[in-house]
Amino acid sequence: MSLINATRRYVVLVSGRGSNLSAILAASSPGQCAAVISNRADAGALEIASAQGIDTAVVPHQNYATRDLFDVALADVVARYKPDLVVMAGFMRILGEQFVNRFEGRMINIHPSLLPAFPGTHTHARALDAGVKTHGCTVHLVTSELDAGPIIAQASVPVLAGDDVATLSARVLVEEHRLYPRVVQDWLAGNFDQRLRELAAREC
Ligand code: GRF
Repeated sequence: MSLINATRRYVVLVSGRGSNLSAILAASSPGQCAAVISNRADAGALEIASAQGIDTAVVPHQNYATRDLFDVALADVVARYKPDLVVMAGFMRILGEQFVNRFEGRMINIHPSLLPAFPGTHTHARALDAGVKTHGCTVHLVTSELDAGPIIAQASVPVLAGDDVATLSARVLVEEHRLYPRVVQDWLAGNFDQRLRELAAREC
């Protein structure tokens, strides 16, 4: 039985257009989006959040001399909102231990490939180059190792003859918009607590 806790709060980290953020906000959620935080002031996702009356904040990475200093500053802003869950949705900075340790076990990311295949960037081009017949997206727990945290959920799409990066990424994005809101809802409803404890324990 799932225990719905209406007070669970989440913060979304973004850097870009925010289509995953939109999909998450459009799905009726048992929790509350407390803030949307970006490292870029020009992220379209910030406008999406503001239009819905959600708090926004910008922590510009270029203002910090080192990654550690940026990590600490960002973590301080995120912590102010006391999130139960930190959702990375197109956040394009690699976060180090200074950040990850503070939110370990309650931070998730969506990655546009079927991990462990194609961690990192340019996933669609690399999938096409490799000639895979199936591609997709993965929601995973964030650890300090890039795109290597325990996998929570995946969705796959076929790679079709004649696909290019534009057609393939569009097909994957449709699945991202289905998968990510579902994971966030499940988490906020408490449905993942036991499973995630098991996944985290397996990592140790
Ligand atoms: C998505 O493809 C996501 O998988 C990747 O970055 C992209 C973000 O897109 N991590 P959007 O900002 O959610 O539209």
